[in-house]
Amino acid sequence: MKVPVDRRDALEGSADAVVSGLFERADKDDTFPRALAREDAASKGLVQAAWKRKELKGKRREVTVFHRADGRGSRIVLVGLGPKNRYSAESVRRAAAEAVKALKGKGARTVAFRLPSFAAEGVTAEAAARALVDGAVLGAYEFVKYRSSSDGGVEESAIHLGEELIRDEAVVKKAVVDELTLADTVVWTRDIANLPADTATPERLAEEARALGKEFGLKVTVFDEKKLAEMGCGGILAVGLGSSHPPRMIVIEYPGGSRRGRTVAVVGKGITFDSGGISLKPGARMGEMKFDKSGAVATLGILRAAAALEIGPRVVGILCCAENLPSGTAYRPGDVVRTLSGKTIEVLNTDAEGRVVLSDGLAYAVQQYKPDEVIDIATLTGAQVVALGDDTAGFVANDDRLAQGILTASAATGEPFWRMPLTDFHRELVKSDIGDVRNSTEIPVAGMLTAAAFLETFVGTTPWAHLDIAGPAYTNPLTRKYQPAYQNIGATGFAVRTVVRYLEAAVPRS
Ligand code: BES
Ligand code: MN
Ligand code: ZN
Repeated sequence: MKVPVDRRDALEGSADAVVSGLFERADKDDTFPRALAREDAASKGLVQAAWKRKELKGKRREVTVFHRADGRGSRIVLVGLGPKNRYSAESVRRAAAEAVKALKGKGARTVAFRLPSFAAEGVTAEAAARALVDGAVLGAYEFVKYRSSSDGGVEESAIHLGEELIRDEAVVKKAVVDELTLADTVVWTRDIANLPADTATPERLAEEARALGKEFGLKVTVFDEKKLAEMGCGGILAVGLGSSHPPRMIVIEYPGGSRRGRTVAVVGKGITFDSGGISLKPGARMGEMKFDKSGAVATLGILRAAAALEIGPRVVGILCCAENLPSGTAYRPGDVVRTLSGKTIEVLNTDAEGRVVLSDGLAYAVQQYKPDEVIDIATLTGAQVVALGDDTAGFVANDDRLAQGILTASAATGEPFWRMPLTDFHRELVKSDIGDVRNSTEIPVAGMLTAAAFLETFVGTTPWAHLDIAGPAYTNPLTRKYQPAYQNIGATGFAVRTVVRYLEAAVPRS
């Protein structure tokens, strides 16, 4: 999507749709807002008439489309911003997304946002412009690869300053370019994460990584099943045994920008399809398990954004990719697997495969790169979804500063994260009788946290954060926001924006 910044008031142009925000009105509030005078004039009084009829309430998700009657452009869109006292950049993201979604199928190609109507109540012009970029780009997203026809969506979302904000032009322009780079990367991430498992095999993810490496001059190393065996990556190998698409560990290195010195490893779970394996999952909605690679694909996106934005720290992405299928060659409950770290895993449930592949990726990160920090990203547990729902990711960190950094970045991006505890109670539960750790516990409690305790075994004392994105990695009919607009189920690209903003902001440890 193109996002030009325009100095004029949006109504002076001829966009297919001019979008203005409208705060929620109090019940007895009958004075027509002066801020809407121009919209009213352009609609020849229709906006004011709708206001008088109490059709315009300004509630969240309310989108009202008027037709222009002043001979320019074609529509005026008023989008609800919700109550003033709860206004934030996130309100703007959602409003922009609602607006572009409402225009879907109406032939609107160019949209013009009236920035002054969004830059209000403590949200600066810069923050509002960034949020409009996110909302418009992510809200307009559609996965069209497998459709023979598409009605096409918004192609351009211009951000108009108008006289009120003209002094902010330079700041807004810079912010828009920066934010668009990140939002475009989320779109790129979604396009890969949405690929079905017949196409998005471990080797295909390796090809995507190689192409990314080529585009941005990043070093990419792919370990195939032979190499993984030589290295001793018994975890990734075991999970991949049941599939005819062999596993891969993919390493991508971004060398760091001007503020070098710090290395952060990002390790992603890349299960291209999770049937559960021999511990087979029930059939209902099993197709959603094509999204079980979302952590690895988010890692790809993070490396892409790191390179495109030339962020400070050195970032190493490690994707642990395998397909988890039942077959005569599959790994089985009761197996004991020796991992790269030298530690053994007692496999009690082949459906707890994510932690098994991550064991090798985490150990490789720590051994090979001695990073200052490790962040893993995984659609790891159903328990995360039970605890926090589809909207909020759960995370565990062994370092308060890293945890605070994630929360600060999360507040800025609007991707919700919630820190969870990791205690000896959880560590006890993953101890194995015949090996070092077991991949599933005897009593089914705190599933998200016993999984984290398992992972911790392979990280040691390196500052580490584990992001469980099982819920927010893809939408279901209940969660949509500014996430994929036109499909009930689709990849969100969750965690890319937050981790990139975290990496950018984090300063070297003293
Ligand atoms: N990929 C699943 C977790 C998942 C569930 C992701 C729902 C997205 C939505 C993971 O591999 C899994 O199956 N976890 C099991 C672990 C259990 C067997 C210990 C789970 O959470 O039930
Ligand atoms: Mn599983
Ligand atoms: Zn899984």
